[in-house]
Amino acid sequence: MRTKAKTGLMLFLILLLLTGCTKTQDPPAENASVVVGFSQLGSESSWRIANTASMEQSAKEFGFSLMMENANQKQEKQIDALRSFIAYRVDVIVFSPIVQTGWDNVLTEAKKAGIPVILMDRMIKSQDESLYTAYVGADFYAEGRRAGEYLIRKADTLGTDHLRIVEICGTTDSTPMRDRQRGFMDVIRKDPRFEVIASVNGDFLRSKGEECMRELLQQYGADGFDVIFAHNDAMMLGALDVLEHTDDPAIQSIIRITVDGEKEVVEALKAGRINCVVQCTPHLGPFVMSLVKDIKEGKKVRKTYHPDEGVFSDLDDLTAPEVEGF
Ligand code: AHR
Repeated sequence: MRTKAKTGLMLFLILLLLTGCTKTQDPPAENASVVVGFSQLGSESSWRIANTASMEQSAKEFGFSLMMENANQKQEKQIDALRSFIAYRVDVIVFSPIVQTGWDNVLTEAKKAGIPVILMDRMIKSQDESLYTAYVGADFYAEGRRAGEYLIRKADTLGTDHLRIVEICGTTDSTPMRDRQRGFMDVIRKDPRFEVIASVNGDFLRSKGEECMRELLQQYGADGFDVIFAHNDAMMLGALDVLEHTDDPAIQSIIRITVDGEKEVVEALKAGRINCVVQCTPHLGPFVMSLVKDIKEGKKVRKTYHPDEGVFSDLDDLTAPEVEGF
């Protein structure tokens, strides 16, 4: 009995010591009273799932209370979530708008209630910039340009004079769809070697990427196009599911360009099944939460925060340590 009591005491002391050691890393207690209302747009891709995890993890690390609502790809559900955050009088609203338009009314309500809004990952289109405090997310236009620049390098390397491109686009009217397309087109438009023969909507979903590829193959045949530019990895993976089950050697030479950089795709790149991955990081949680902290402390914040991103491709060193997916 005595030995048991001693062991118990020892364990208790060790635990005390351990909690003492981690104490310094605990977030300040006052952060616990900060409520962040977070409206996520859905769960359409591995990117989105990693992004949600990043937000949850960072909120925990900062000690904020996170009220999260997932809109399952429906703008009306996002609007409802924002209204519920306003009614609850959260301290800060963070949201990732599924499309760019249609937010003015609800954001005006948030503004009137004095609740700062951070746009995370996607932008809105509005005449009134005061409807949001800051935007944290990728520079999608630069991503589109990187995809175009890779294609130019690839065409130079191959010495080819005509490449027919099919584009599998993300959700219509979303920022990444619009800006990746614009950036890509701005780079290739003036080069007569390139011709976009089809732009189809894959809604950022693997299942739709698959559907799009089936239709494209039906319409053009395996030798009817030379390049696939998919606006995200999920759609590229769906397209590959179809392409790699097509019994036509013509598919081998199709150049495949995608955006995001999830693990499965980076592995496919290293295995030679994909040619180029333009990076788009989902790990935005730490940026967002430190912004919430600054806003709460009354600090002046920048309007736009873009993470650093690059490109992985078959024209670069794929053994470099930074070539890895999320
Ligand atoms: O807004 C970012 C995009 O949304 C990612 O590229 C895509 O995978 C996600 O669905």
